[in-house]
Amino acid sequence: MPALIVGNWKMNGLGDDIAEIAQMAAAGAGNGARSLWIAPPFTLIDRSVIVAAGAVKIGGQDCHVKQSGAHTGCVSAAMLADLGAGFVIVGHSERRRDKAESDADVRAKATAGCAAGLEVILCIGETRDQRGAGQTNDVLTSQLAGSLPDDAEALIIAYEPVWAIGTGLIPTLDDVASAHAHIRANLVARYGPAGYGVRVLYGGSVTPANASELLRVSEVGGVLVGGASLTAQSLLAITAAPP
Ligand code: 13P
Repeated sequence: MPALIVGNWKMNGLGDDIAEIAQMAAAGAGNGARSLWIAPPFTLIDRSVIVAAGAVKIGGQDCHVKQSGAHTGCVSAAMLADLGAGFVIVGHSERRRDKAESDADVRAKATAGCAAGLEVILCIGETRDQRGAGQTNDVLTSQLAGSLPDDAEALIIAYEPVWAIGTGLIPTLDDVASAHAHIRANLVARYGPAGYGVRVLYGGSVTPANASELLRVSEVGGVLVGGASLTAQSLLAITAAPP
């Protein structure tokens, strides 16, 4: 399966930054068969869909669990789909931390995303303290048990160790392989053979310099990139990282 490269712009980007997405699309985006997806802030989704011109898939960074209703300031998965978004990220550790999102919330959001016809990138990962205490696999198992939706068809998992996000630190490649193998075993236990078809991304301080080695790790089906996804130059260098 060719690697999938996903950029998460988080709370970054104004109108002028659309030019970066236009540049990514013009460059043909992925290297060969690699696909490139970008999750800009909600305010830029409609414009991004236009300039991406089908070469880059555009998605949301979060969605509400309900399709519509009295929820001031919230955005539903159906609204994202209506704008032309093709995917949504749910359960990012920054939302689990800042918005106190629980595994049950994440599961409801993943289910809402699937119901709206979006592909769903569900994020999990341990904190520094949990890794230090040797709890990484237990944390991943518990997050998956609490947050996986019933249907695996549109599902992608992103393994993002919290301590690796925005810090310049990454786990050893052996640790990445071990976490991904553990996630795969959980997916197969949950979904049966369909669990082998769920793509698992690595995220946390991915750069053009370390993308190749991370993408070569067994069970790593792509990367979820924050800081290094904000410019076309940097993200295209990741999509072009030698296999
Ligand atoms: P960084 O690539 O900036 O570490 O962010 C990773 C991330 O959180 C992507 O969702």
